Amino acid sequence: MNKKIIIANLKLNGNLKYIKKYIKKLNKYINSKIYKIFIAPPILYLYFSNLIINNKNIKLVSQNIDKNFSGSYTGEISGKMLKDINTKYVIIGHSERKKYHKENNKTILKKIIATKKSNLIPIICIGENIEEYNKKKSKNICKKQIQYIIKNNNIKILKNTIIAYEPIWAIGTGKNADINHINKIHKYIIKYISSINKNIIKKIKIIYGGSINDKNICNIITNKYVDGLLIGKSSWKIKNFTKLLNIINNLK
Ligand code: PGA
Repeated sequence: MNKKIIIANLKLNGNLKYIKKYIKKLNKYINSKIYKIFIAPPILYLYFSNLIINNKNIKLVSQNIDKNFSGSYTGEISGKMLKDINTKYVIIGHSERKKYHKENNKTILKKIIATKKSNLIPIICIGENIEEYNKKKSKNICKKQIQYIIKNNNIKILKNTIIAYEPIWAIGTGKNADINHINKIHKYIIKYISSINKNIIKKIKIIYGGSINDKNICNIITNKYVDGLLIGKSSWKIKNFTKLLNIINNLK
């Protein structure tokens, strides 16, 4: 069985002392046969995290990337810089970046291209808002977000990527999508991409994110269409995150 991907998205939280303690604890959770750990600290701490991670089994994830490689772009960070400090993955199109930084399909595609050109792996977030969910448009919204990438680039750009299905209404709200809904959407994404290219889909992982906690994790992670989880709030306290890892470790 392929190992499930478990990503801790620390968002804008922590300080040096916290990151040090966090990774020290995480270093003890690397030998699972069931999951691989990915950590997305605030970008400022990626370099330091890399220095104290003592095992290749913990992968570094950046929460952002710039679409440019160098030049007059004050405040930005390039893919090459991320690669330079051993980052492997980049979260792109997170709903918080869409909301607070007005990222749209066009920016997201440019960031995916920059990520790929830097030999990093994009974690592409897609998902519907509450109105779209209520109107039963979830499938169509997810399709459109993927379709934009394919139409304006090429299906091949999706090879070796991770797609994170993150319904916006489930992020940080305490209301996770139920497993039937997740199952339906993940299957639909597979069907849609396969209808365009049967081989590429084998090289894509589809993970879920949105209000994962110790009560719902078992049901979601054991689903065969869920390749992993993107976890926000429940990963911020190392005690809570390791509780989730222990739950997964104890799965039969
Ligand atoms: P949450 O965040 O687990 O706090 O809902 C998930 C995410 O933002 O990816």
